[in-house]
Amino acid sequence: IDVSKLEYLKVEVTPEKVGLITLNRPKALNALCEELIEELNMVTRDMDEDDDVGAMVITGSDRAFAAGADIKQMKDRPFSEVSGRNMFAPWAELSRRRKPTVAAVNGFALGGGCELAMMCDMIIAGETAQFGQPEILIGTIPGCGGTQRLVRSVGKSKAMMMCLTGERVGAQEMLTAGLVAKVMPAEETLPEALRLAGKMASLSRPIVAACKEAVNAAYETTLDQGVLFERRLFHATFATEDQKEGMSAFSEKRAPEWRHR
Ligand code: CAA
Repeated sequence: IDVSKLEYLKVEVTPEKVGLITLNRPKALNALCEELIEELNMVTRDMDEDDDVGAMVITGSDRAFAAGADIKQMKDRPFSEVSGRNMFAPWAELSRRRKPTVAAVNGFALGGGCELAMMCDMIIAGETAQFGQPEILIGTIPGCGGTQRLVRSVGKSKAMMMCLTGERVGAQEMLTAGLVAKVMPAEETLPEALRLAGKMASLSRPIVAACKEAVNAAYETTLDQGVLFERRLFHATFATEDQKEGMSAFSEKRAPEWRHR
């Protein structure tokens, strides 16, 4: 794709093989209109297939990661259209990427913005970041997984509080609750996200993909089935050159040279 033609995103690939995607719709606090999601899907699909990219970081501005789905775009839509076109279905694509995704969040992550961050594999937040599901305040409910993913990461009580009152919760509280992996001073949010993504991009691609798949299985399966799935993938890593290389390098006290990255 021609990244110079993107209207709502800024895109670059760092020397560390990290695909950096910056939501760039400042006038609307990065409200996520359909066109933006379409661009995001295109870019992340491309990066997932690009050998020069090992991990992706999605970020916004200092003021807003994203203030939600575009309210003005959807407000007058009739039920027949919203339901008939399955509005928001395309958002789920991001959660199906095979390479690791990191959300670097400063400022507002509200509604669809919070849901987009939760679709990433991990969230790194700045101290002033604010998370919330304020849909209830505008007469609707979360529509991109908010009610489901919040419960799984922060538990029922806090998820209920957030979804039923629409009140925003700060980064530190979300760290304690388990939504966020790490809280940083605002100016270090993106550098830290890039550092972590760079680390993942420096490792064996097939092994990182297998690991992500195994962790994600915890969302979908029973403990017994999940542990079995993990065990099978673990066994499968022994069919890769990179498992042999990684363990040989350890034994020989040298740095591994991954074949597949
Ligand atoms: N959709 C469309 N436009 C939005 C927007 C949104 N979600 N959020 C902000 N904007 C626009 C504002 O309309 C405003 O535009 P104008 O200058 O043209 O009026 C501009 O961004 C700046 O916003 P504010 O003037 O409101 O800035 P503020 O600092 O006073 O307030 C805010 C910031 C608290 C984030 C406030 O903008 C806000 O409450 N936004 C809406 C948050 C929300 O309800 N999100 C959920 C959306 S529904 C959803 O996401 C459904 C889903 O599950 C996917």
